[in-house]
Amino acid sequence: MGESRIRPGMSDEEDDSPAAIEEPDDPTPVGVKLGSTRTVLATPDGDGDVETTRTLTCLATYEDALTGEEKVLYGAEAAMEYPDRVQFMLRSGLPEDDENAELAGRFFRAVTESNDVPENSAVVYAVPTIDNEPGLENLAGVVEESDVGEALVRSYPESLCGALPAFEDGLAAIDRIFVAVNLGSTNLEMCAYRRGEQLSPVATGGVTGNEIDRRIANYVEEETQGRVNIDLTTAREYKEEHADFEDYDPFTDVIQQPGGGSHEFTIEDSVMDAVDEYVDEVVDEVANSFLPELANDYMKVYQLALDEPVVLTGGMACIPGLAAEVETRLSETLQRDVEVVAADRPDLAAARGAELIAERLAEDA
Ligand SMILES: Nc1ncnc2c1ncn2[C@@H]1O[C@H](COP(=O)(O)OP(=O)(O)OP(=O)(O)O)[C@@H](O)[C@H]1O
Ligand SMILES: [Mg+2]
Repeated sequence: MGESRIRPGMSDEEDDSPAAIEEPDDPTPVGVKLGSTRTVLATPDGDGDVETTRTLTCLATYEDALTGEEKVLYGAEAAMEYPDRVQFMLRSGLPEDDENAELAGRFFRAVTESNDVPENSAVVYAVPTIDNEPGLENLAGVVEESDVGEALVRSYPESLCGALPAFEDGLAAIDRIFVAVNLGSTNLEMCAYRRGEQLSPVATGGVTGNEIDRRIANYVEEETQGRVNIDLTTAREYKEEHADFEDYDPFTDVIQQPGGGSHEFTIEDSVMDAVDEYVDEVVDEVANSFLPELANDYMKVYQLALDEPVVLTGGMACIPGLAAEVETRLSETLQRDVEVVAADRPDLAAARGAELIAERLAEDA
């Protein structure tokens, strides 16, 4: 794949390509969320709807048995077949160094190629609100140096993208004033938006999905009196499959014992105890760390924003009933009624919101 591209309107001596005389197609809008665990692409499906693809953010390389060429495998297949050398290059949320940036670049190319994302596209990608210039620059490089996004490449904050699908007015919500709280795997991010402008951003690595996975693993060990040790992937799966504030059911699982035989056990409390603490910690951060800062910086915006729904974004908002739980506890803590909402599929919402923005930007591209 060469670096040079023939842009519409450029004069070209060798006029043998039919593309030079045909009207160029409109660029395809594409929303991208590159996350530490999963990556989501959102593209129009051709029938007026938007299609999303979700894949694990990991990659493994192997040598082609016939040609000796290095081949790239990504996502669940890579994690399953090459557990010994699969690399999660965004583990900390951003490509931290050159090596991870390079890996992330290969991953992104592989994902966009296998999903047939056209080069003639308008790409909007979601970025975390973290104070990490080199990491953010590396992320920008990953998207900008890929083959897609010929028409344009732009980034928007992840929690802004993820909040748009939570409102009924879709893209028009970008002009609202509201508080967004992003519940991610490596960070908790809080800020206000005023017509798309980000105000008083606060982030902490102390209240996170990953931390809850660690806690679930510890609690499972306690609950089973030390008989069961689960790894963090299993803990994450327990959380994603079973955590539920509306309708939790204890569940059983079986572990194979090293010397043969198996042990069946039931989990009553470990998962819900961990996510229950998580909600308390989120509410504490919002009420005692972020909101005072916002009130201090922008008193009027603070008042306006609390009259609007607080939007939860990020994968942890997928837990059924979590938004209602945050609403109850935050209202109690603040001693006033606040409404708390989330998109239908918070894990897909950032990519979907980015796609909405891309649709608009593509019109002018
Ligand atoms: N259905 C689900 N139920 C519960 N938790 C979920 C679900 N789906 C995803 N999560 C959790 O959400 C977190 C990932 O959220 P998200 O994709 O927003 O993170 P990220 O953008 O990669 O992380 P960060 O922004 O912190 O770097 C993980 O902890 C994951 O286990
Ligand atoms: Mg995130």
